[in-house]
Amino acid sequence: MKIAVSGKGGVGKTTVSANLVYLFAREGFNVYAVDADPDASLGLALGLDPQALENLVPLVEMKEVIDEKSGGGGAFYSLNPDVDDVIKDYSIKQNNIRFLMMGGVKQGGSACYCKENSFLNSVLNSLLLDQKGVVILDMSAGIEHLTRGTSQGVDAVVIVAEPTRAGVKTAGVVQKLAFDLGIKNIKILGNKIRRQEEKDFIRQHFGDDNIIGFLPYREETWTRSMELDPAAFGDEDLLEGMKDVYTKLAKEVV
Ligand SMILES: Nc1ncnc2c1ncn2[C@@H]1O[C@H](COP(=O)(O)OP(=O)(O)OP(=O)(O)O)[C@@H](O)[C@H]1O
Ligand SMILES: [Mg+2]
Repeated sequence: MKIAVSGKGGVGKTTVSANLVYLFAREGFNVYAVDADPDASLGLALGLDPQALENLVPLVEMKEVIDEKSGGGGAFYSLNPDVDDVIKDYSIKQNNIRFLMMGGVKQGGSACYCKENSFLNSVLNSLLLDQKGVVILDMSAGIEHLTRGTSQGVDAVVIVAEPTRAGVKTAGVVQKLAFDLGIKNIKILGNKIRRQEEKDFIRQHFGDDNIIGFLPYREETWTRSMELDPAAFGDEDLLEGMKDVYTKLAKEVV
């Protein structure tokens, strides 16, 4: 199962991704937590060792190594049998969570970007041969990163939306794009909710059927993001309502 978490900048994609990674892992899945945002932050949100994060080699660099080995042919398939072995050098493992970082994608020239994406997909699809495996993709902000490449094999997109005009507008654009890309399960997740009227606002825009849940604004979550070296994500960091979101995803997608 592959779940992408998308939405406007700063709405809570990384926070929601960390919550999902933690819950799926707690329920016994092998979770591949993938930071697909070049401006990486999922590792910190999960409370992984900052030193290990600092030293982690991003997947794009693995691509360079493979390109070198294969004379530029990018023959990733030849590595498939040993993908687990290769991945070890490019990931941080914590219990049943394996954290991978996509890394900075070269800007300009979309062809180059597509190549990186399709490479990431080969890696992820190989990971998914693991039946008890769940991939959570923390996407970067906006819509340009949701492409045919990145959405390939994605079973569900969770679009995080803030109760603001700009928030619902971007969420709507992402929703349409995900639909056009043929993703079956597209859900809006309201975040940073403080008042009933904020829920109503999101409901009016998307309708109950398209909404997977609402998460409250929580001071401790905000405070945690200031800590340089936060503790590993735990039960106490879960946002209220996340367990429901997890249950729905697990039921609909697994
Ligand atoms: N429910 C919440 N309650 C309080 N603070 C929250 C909540 N969700 C997210 N935040 C805070 O909002 C900020 C942005 O969240 P986060 O980094 O998860 O967003 P993002 O969508 O991944 O951002 P970016 O687009 O920069 O990657 C963080 O400081 C985070 O702690
Ligand atoms: Mg983020």
